[in-house]
Formats: sequence, structure tokens, C-alpha cells
Amino acid sequence: MPTVTIDGVRVEVEKDATILDAAKKAGIWIPTLCYHPAVSTPATCRLCMVELDRGDWKQLVTACNYPVRRDLVVSVSSERAVHARQGVMELLLARAPDNTALKTLARRMGVEQTPYPTVTQSQRDCILCGLCTAVCEEVLGRAAIGFAGRGPDRAVAAPFRQASEDCIGCGACAAVCPVGTIQIRIHEDSGEIEISPFKSRAKLLVCEACGARTVSEPVAEEILKKSKFDWEEFRQRARLCPECRRKRAAAALGGVATRAGKT
Ligand code: SF4
Ligand code: FES
Repeated sequence: MPTVTIDGVRVEVEKDATILDAAKKAGIWIPTLCYHPAVSTPATCRLCMVELDRGDWKQLVTACNYPVRRDLVVSVSSERAVHARQGVMELLLARAPDNTALKTLARRMGVEQTPYPTVTQSQRDCILCGLCTAVCEEVLGRAAIGFAGRGPDRAVAAPFRQASEDCIGCGACAAVCPVGTIQIRIHEDSGEIEISPFKSRAKLLVCEACGARTVSEPVAEEILKKSKFDWEEFRQRARLCPECRRKRAAAALGGVATRAGKT
């Protein structure tokens, strides 16, 4: 197995693991934004830059997608690496100057503000990392959102900036957004989930036993379709909230508790 010596700490990793994997194993923090283990790594944010020692010369590389194929010596804390990451953060802050999550990360990296002009109000908050579009396409197979516009007008949006018919209201995009730009709103009056700012709405499933709202109806349908379970009991349980599903499963087992203290 190749080794990575990272800020003086030597660890062994599987061939083709990344420098980021090695850093995690060594207990060394590298800031990331566009990295998520659930999707392929786009390496768009450039925040994870480290300095790779090639013997005669040194090179800045992105840790999240640099594969370890031989023994490497890497510096996370060299002046050049720290300065490079701070420069990237300053650019990101210009894009989303009021974003709380981004400002917290910036402070952790020693960056208090950006020297660059900030974008207009309408484009604020999204750092264009691409995680939301990747999870929608790669994990859900949907591509309900994508990049639109160029230069400073570039943004993530649904086609024609209208609610997308491909959106099933699963909220995966909101779950992976590293800076909390995508919000899930529940409309109690209409019983709908809204994925903001994409304007997508979907009806929420109502638990057939207790009336509680659960996942969106298209998500429930998708689960049933993908499971390919031709089992009526499974179909019925899929239309229950988690608590009622648990009770029903327990009842099916003759009242045996599935969780401590409850039946
Ligand atoms: S909305 Fe969030 S996940 Fe999507 S590109 Fe912008 S920052 Fe990344
Ligand atoms: S986390 Fe590595 S480039 Fe974004």
C-alpha cells in the first residue's frame, strides 16, 4: 500500500485513495466544500489545495481528487498552501458574503473578509459548488436542476427558472448543499413541500394510520417503483409514517418490541 506523509504524519492508504482520505486517516483537517462521498468529485471549489512535494519542485493540487498511486509527501500547513486556500476563500466570500456557514468556515481558515467586489443581491449565497446538481443527477437520476447563465450571472436553477416537473421533492439537494443555500419549506395549508429557491413543490404523503405528514408522494412512488417488491404488506407500510410503520412491524411479529421500551 502507498504511504502519504502529510505534515510529517505518515499513513498508509489503499492505492487510488485520495490525499483527502489520507489526511482524514492522519487526523489532519483540510477544508472542503464541493466534496461529498455520495457523488463523484467535481473539484470545483478549489478550497482543499495542498502542496505536493515532488522532490525537485512543489505543486499545489486539490486534495479531494488527487489519487495516491505511489508514496507522497504533502504539506497542508505550508505558507503557500495556506495562502492559496485563503485566496480561494476570499473569492468564495465575494460570491456569498452573507452566508453564515461560509463565514464560519472562513474564520476557521483565518479569513475575516474579502477584498473583492461582491456579487449582486440576487446571486448571493450560492458558491456554485455543483453538489446539488450532482446528487440530483447521479443519485436520483433526475437532473431537475442545473447550471444556467455565464460569468457573474451563473446560477443553479430549474429549466427556464420555473418549477421543474422532474423534481420529486426529496430534498437531497438541500441535504448536500454545504452552505445551506437550498431550503425545504413545508406549506401546512396546502400540505406541500417546497424546495427553495427552485420553486418546486410536491404533495406530502399523509400517514394512513395517524395522519402525520411524511415524505413527498412522488418520493413514496419512486421507492415503491425502485424496490420492485410485489408484496402488498410492503406497499401498505410504505404509506405509513416511520412510527406507525414500526408499530405495524412489531404487531406483525406478535407484539415484539423493535425499540427499547416500546411495542
Ligand atoms: S445551491 Fe448549494 S449545493 Fe448547489 S451549487 Fe449552490 S452552494 Fe452548491
Ligand atoms: S473540496 Fe476539493 S476542490 Fe472542492
